[in-house]
Amino acid sequence: MKVRRSVFISALSLTAVLAALSLTAVLAAQTAAPEGTASSSHHSGQSPGAGAVPRDSLRALASRVGLRIGTAVNTDALATNATYRQITADQFSTVTPENVMKWQLVEPTKGTYDWSAADQLVKFAQAHGQLVHGHVLVWHSQLPDWLTTGNYTPAQLRDLLRKHISDEVSHFRGHIWQWDVVNEAFNDDGTMRDTLWLRALGPGYIADAFRWAHRADPHALLLYNDYNIEGLGAKSDAVYELVKQLRAQGVPIDGVGLQTHLDTQYGFPDQMQQNMQRFADLGLKLALTEVDVRSTLPVTSTVQLAQNADYSQSLQACLLVRQCISYTVWGFGDAYSWVPGVFAGQGAADIYDENLQPKPSYYALQQNLILDTGAPHRDGTGVTLKLSGLTSGSVKLGKSVMVKGTVTPTSLAGSKVTLTVQKKKGAKWLTVESVARTISASGAYSWKYTPGKRGAYRMRATIARTTAHAAAGTAWRPFKVT
Ligand code: G3I
Repeated sequence: MKVRRSVFISALSLTAVLAALSLTAVLAAQTAAPEGTASSSHHSGQSPGAGAVPRDSLRALASRVGLRIGTAVNTDALATNATYRQITADQFSTVTPENVMKWQLVEPTKGTYDWSAADQLVKFAQAHGQLVHGHVLVWHSQLPDWLTTGNYTPAQLRDLLRKHISDEVSHFRGHIWQWDVVNEAFNDDGTMRDTLWLRALGPGYIADAFRWAHRADPHALLLYNDYNIEGLGAKSDAVYELVKQLRAQGVPIDGVGLQTHLDTQYGFPDQMQQNMQRFADLGLKLALTEVDVRSTLPVTSTVQLAQNADYSQSLQACLLVRQCISYTVWGFGDAYSWVPGVFAGQGAADIYDENLQPKPSYYALQQNLILDTGAPHRDGTGVTLKLSGLTSGSVKLGKSVMVKGTVTPTSLAGSKVTLTVQKKKGAKWLTVESVARTISASGAYSWKYTPGKRGAYRMRATIARTTAHAAAGTAWRPFKVT
């Protein structure tokens, strides 16, 4: 068993920081939080949370650096528990269906789809300015019985998998920000997991799955997702080699999801930030997709501090890597957690207790986000911006810059992107242009910009909060006019 390091130091310093929480929270509330609202901007007919996200909520605080905070959603609780609904809307800017997009649930009978529960969640997300993380297209678990007991030939299984991916991704096209395309394809020792898919189709099923998903929704970000790959080790090395090869072969993979199911009896993953950075250096995005921290029950105050530390450290690792675009907890309330059903005697893994009251681990996350403004602003949180026509970051006076970008989800077609250009004057940046461009049906926008003077410039693209989408934007892109 691994020895836990530095929990006490982290926990002690955290306690000291938490003591300053109320003051810092007040200060943070006074700075501009893109998502937060001080005065209520309720539109009539909206559900609670749609018009007014609390300024000290996890989602509002994280939006200042372009980070999305997500949760897995139990759709039964969402339908029946008003407090659960309110917290989902207030605290999170992305939602992941915990079960209802899985093959077993969407196609319980061969050829008959039931999208109803998942459609409801997508609707909820739209009403509350949230993006949707799709989970999951290819997995060895939660498959329908007709599929696992059907004695299909490899060729039939390949057709069934292709149809499943194409049909599901097409059904949700334009509404999914990130898809978990392939989930848990490796064992802890780095060998490939022996699954229905590997046995029938060979390792090439992974590349095929990404290609089929991309064909069905070219704008969704496509992730490989797994657990125990948060730190450096045999399993993360294997995933690293896989995604490196996929990139080299031109397979449309955009990122890696680190599930981050932690347990306080083991040490924090080894060098999580460095591990994430090596994936980022391949040109991939990172997402923490299923964070929770379980412990043996009952949880002592010391163990609670260890849980806080694990939540803090995982969030800090994400904040420190610019390509980490979302931090998602695997459910937020202990009453709904998967943990006790799988690990007997363990639980208390979530950031809200059995009565949906925030726990110290909630405040640990909030505290880190309050202090996050020094973290790099991240892209890919809904809006991308490309500046073409710039040779090594500069353009000759009199020439034009072609500005192109895309917005996801494509359901934002018809709304506007604002492009802001600033010019450096002394130590200050002054806005010299601000134009709105309409997002096309495919999610694209463009603008031909001709700068009027020499100097140092920067540009960014933003979308305003709509009733169906949270505010989002790119980082500033510097360029020179010579
Ligand atoms: O829907 C049936 C219900 O009809 C039946 O009466 C009941 C009886 O047990 O079972 C219900 O299905 C359960 C399902 O969750 C929906 O609640 C399954 O038994 C149960 O096994 C299933 O558990 C889910 C688990 O994945 C399945 O492997 C958990 O909720 C879910 O949190 C968990 O999530 C996974 C991610 O997808 C992938 N990464 C690991 C993570 C945790 O295991």
